[in-house]
Amino acid sequence: MSEAPEVKPAESTTPTLAPRGLEGVAVAETRIGDVRGEEGFYHYRGYDATELARHCSFEQVWHLLLIGELPNARELRWLQDQAVAGRALPGGVSTALDDIARLPGYTALGALRTAVSLSAAALNLQPTLDLTPDQVRADALRMVALTPVLLMRLHRVHQGLAPIDPDPSLGYAAAYLQMLTGERPGPEAARALEQYMILTMDHGFNSSTFTARVITSTGSDMGSALTGAIGALAGPLHGGAPSRALDMLDAIGTPERAEEHLRDEVKGGQRLMGFGHRVYKTDDPRSVLLHEVARGLGGPQVEFAEHVEATALRVLSELKPGRRLYTNVEFYSGVVMNTVGLSRDMFTPTFACSRTVGWTSAVAEQASNNRLIRPSAIYVGPPAPRPLPEGYAYA
Ligand SMILES: CC(C)(COP(=O)(O)OP(=O)(O)OC[C@H]1O[C@@H](n2cnc3c(N)ncnc32)[C@H](O)[C@@H]1OP(=O)(O)O)[C@@H](O)C(=O)NCCC(=O)NCCS
Repeated sequence: MSEAPEVKPAESTTPTLAPRGLEGVAVAETRIGDVRGEEGFYHYRGYDATELARHCSFEQVWHLLLIGELPNARELRWLQDQAVAGRALPGGVSTALDDIARLPGYTALGALRTAVSLSAAALNLQPTLDLTPDQVRADALRMVALTPVLLMRLHRVHQGLAPIDPDPSLGYAAAYLQMLTGERPGPEAARALEQYMILTMDHGFNSSTFTARVITSTGSDMGSALTGAIGALAGPLHGGAPSRALDMLDAIGTPERAEEHLRDEVKGGQRLMGFGHRVYKTDDPRSVLLHEVARGLGGPQVEFAEHVEATALRVLSELKPGRRLYTNVEFYSGVVMNTVGLSRDMFTPTFACSRTVGWTSAVAEQASNNRLIRPSAIYVGPPAPRPLPEGYAYA
C-alpha cells in the first residue's frame, strides 16, 4: 500500500500581529553591532564599544563600522583623506544654508535635517538600488564628513557669526570644536568629545537606524535615509532630550537641595532625567565611561553631578525598589558636552553627527543585501466594504 501524500498546510493570509513597538521582534540580521542589556554590554562588529572609545580615534571606529574592520595605517590614511575631502560644501548650497540659519522657527536639529536633505540633492546622490557597494560607501563617507560642517555653519550664521572652515590638519572631533569657536581646541576637550562621539555612533537596532533601513529598502538614496533618520532621532523618546538631565541639575541648584528635590520628584510621579533604560537593567556602559571622561575634564559641575547621581540612585532604590533603575547615557553626556563648550541646543545635533556613522553603515549593509521592508497591519476599523451613506455625492 502506498503512503498518503504529505499535505502542506495552506499558507495563512492573515498576518500575525507583532507586539506593540516591535519589542522583542528581530526584523533583520546585522553584522554591525548589538546591545546586551542584561549584561550592560554593547559592541561594534564584535568589539566592546567602550574599549574602542578608550583606545581608538573617531576615524578608526568609523572605518570599523562602515568598512567592517579596524584599519591598518594605510587604510586609516585613506579614510582620513576621504574625510577631509568630504568636508567641502557642495556647490550652490551656501546661500540656501544661510537662509535656513535665519528661518524664524530655527532649531539646530531641524535646520540640520533640512541642510542634509539640501546637500544630498545638490550632490545628486543616486538611488542605492543603482549603486555598487563601493559607490554606496563613497556616499556614506561624504555625508558623514559633511554633516558637522553643515551643522556648525548653520549654528554660527544663526548666531550672526561668520562661518569657519574646518582645519584639514584636525581630526573629526577636534575640527568639530574648531568650527564652533574658530580656535584649535585643547587636547583634553577634543578627546573627551571624541570619546562621547565614539560611544554614540551606534547602539543596536534603534528607531532611527531602523528608519534609515526602511528608507534604503525602497532603493532610495543616502540623503533620504539620513534625512528620515534625523527626523526619527528628533523625538524626545529617542534623542530629542539629552539636555534634560542638565536642566535637572540646574533645578536642584545646590548639593544640599538634592535629596529633597529628588524625593519630591519621584513621590510626585516624575521621572528623574538620566536614570532608567528600556534595555539596560544594570549600569549603562556608556554612562560608566562618560563619568570617567567627565572626571578627566574636571570642573565644579562634575562633583555636583556625582553628588546628585549618588543621591538619585539611593532615592530610586528606596522609592522604586526592584525596578533596576541605573544612570543612563544622558546623565554624564550633558556634563561632558557642556564642559567642552557646546550649548544645550547643540546636544542632540552633536549626537546626530556621531550617529550618522551608524546610520550610513546600516544603509550600506541594507543596500548590499536588500529586500523591500513592507510589513502589514491588522485592520480593526468598521467592517469593509462599507456602503457610502445614502445620497452622498461629490461636492
Ligand atoms: C528611559 C525610560 C523611558 C525607560 O522606561 P521603561 O523601560 O519604559 O520603564 P517603565 O516606564 O516601564 O518604568 C518602570 C518603573 O520604573 C519607574 N521609572 C523608570 N524610570 C524612572 C526614572 N527615571 N525616575 C523615576 N522612576 C522611573 C517608572 O515610574 C515605573 O515605576 P512603577 O512600576 O511604579 O510604575 C525611563 O526610565 C525614563 O523615562 N527615564 C527618564 C528619561 C531619560 O533619562 N531618558 C533617556 C534614556 S537614554
